[in-house]
Amino acid sequence: MTASAYPLDIVIMAAGKGTRMKSARPKVLHTLAGRPMLAHVIQACAGLGARRIHVITGHGAEQVEAAMAPQAAALPLQFVRQEPQLGTGHAVQQAAPHLADDADGITLILNGDTPLIRTETARALIEACAGKNLALLTVHLDDPTGYGRIVRVGDSAREGEGGRILGIVEQKDAHPRQLAIREVYTGVMAAPTAALRRWLSRLTNDNAQGEYYLTDVVAQAEAERTHVCAAHPASEIEVLGVNSPAQLADLERRLQRQQAEGLMEQGLRLADPARFDLRGELQVGRDVEVDVGCVFEGRVELGDGVRIGPYCVIRNARIAAGATLHAYCHIEGDAAGVEVGPGAIVGPYARLRPGAKLGADVHIGNFVEVKNSTLAAGAKANHLAYLGDATVGERVNFGAGSITANYDGANKHRTVIGADVHVGSNCVLIAPVTLGEGATIGGGSTLAKDAPAGQLTVARARQVSLPGWKRPQKKPA
Ligand code: UD1
Ligand code: MG
Repeated sequence: MTASAYPLDIVIMAAGKGTRMKSARPKVLHTLAGRPMLAHVIQACAGLGARRIHVITGHGAEQVEAAMAPQAAALPLQFVRQEPQLGTGHAVQQAAPHLADDADGITLILNGDTPLIRTETARALIEACAGKNLALLTVHLDDPTGYGRIVRVGDSAREGEGGRILGIVEQKDAHPRQLAIREVYTGVMAAPTAALRRWLSRLTNDNAQGEYYLTDVVAQAEAERTHVCAAHPASEIEVLGVNSPAQLADLERRLQRQQAEGLMEQGLRLADPARFDLRGELQVGRDVEVDVGCVFEGRVELGDGVRIGPYCVIRNARIAAGATLHAYCHIEGDAAGVEVGPGAIVGPYARLRPGAKLGADVHIGNFVEVKNSTLAAGAKANHLAYLGDATVGERVNFGAGSITANYDGANKHRTVIGADVHVGSNCVLIAPVTLGEGATIGGGSTLAKDAPAGQLTVARARQVSLPGWKRPQKKPA
């Protein structure tokens, strides 16, 4: 099921300053698993079939809107400015004129700083609202500090589901007895749109923070005898809000743990799930091992039996079956992705940049950089080398310290190295240049012209020794 049974509007609040982040960057653009928090929330809403998603922006609005533009373009999403920011109630008031007029319309409201809400949870809340109830997403927290407390009939500090919901009281406005309540509002509610409009129009800012609180609509609903109900998320992680760097880091670790556990269930062997970071998508085959401290970004595929050593950073890459990456490799593919062939051995300390394509059993050793280059099966560059804009044939051996000089200061040029070529140590291949099949290039050569197949080419000063030569002597003082 994708489309909601009711005309659905979604409001995501993202205008706040996020003072407690102490950052120049708008809070909702701080990232979790490599994506802005707001992008996570929008993603969760994408499958709900809303007629429109209204994102409230204010603080850093241009920055927020620009960052979300690609995602927004694929959805019925509009930005609504809130200037100045007078509280969450004031934020939703800005969207009110844009909400659907249908009598049975539902408005789902979310906080942009509560990033891990799941589509299923939001859908369950919409079902609970059913176009007539005010449905709140609530959760019981061991430490409810900072959250709005759910006040119910009866003993307010009582555990579990108490009586009827009377309202929400914010931390700063709560009495000591209310502070003991552990059931908190998560920042997600679903309301009948027509009633919401009415409630919003009556909000005041008569509270400790002098703000228009969205949470005050709950007491109004209760006063009107609208049924106020609570639904709960499957997991606490879905509703943790981020207000400070410490909370952001805590949520990041929880999310990473969850991702790691999911991958381990698929058979991935992580040396330490607490030292694993995935900021994108990771696909793994059977018997894949990942050592500590690795970071995966973008889209990464690891084939059967791949082994990744400690502290590798891998972005957008396909690592084929049986390949090994030793410690401290940096793979930085673009959208097209870096390719590492089956059985290849890379690192330690290797760098593969966009356009690097390594064939089967290729060896790339320490301090070797490869960019926009194809290495055919069995080719080797084991030490201290640069291959840029090169086509390297099968079984080529590219010596220590050798480089392709691919840039003339204005344009890039290609180097073509035929199969079975042996390039000695410390050679400079000035592109464009072609080395014929089976050529051998003497160490220390600087090649500005093509080297013929099968021959030894040496391009360096001939070695001379001067018999009887004396070292200069220091002059007497
Ligand atoms: C809010 C709730 C609190 C709940 C908590 C859950 C209110 C009054 N309180 O508190 O009950 O437990 O979320 O995380 O709603 N925003 C705007 N415009 C504004 C103010 C805020 O768009 O004028 C946005 C912020 O960018 C943020 C969200 O609304 O994404 C929540 O604002 P925040 O100030 O973090 O509210 P909390 O104090 O966390
Ligand atoms: Mg908050």
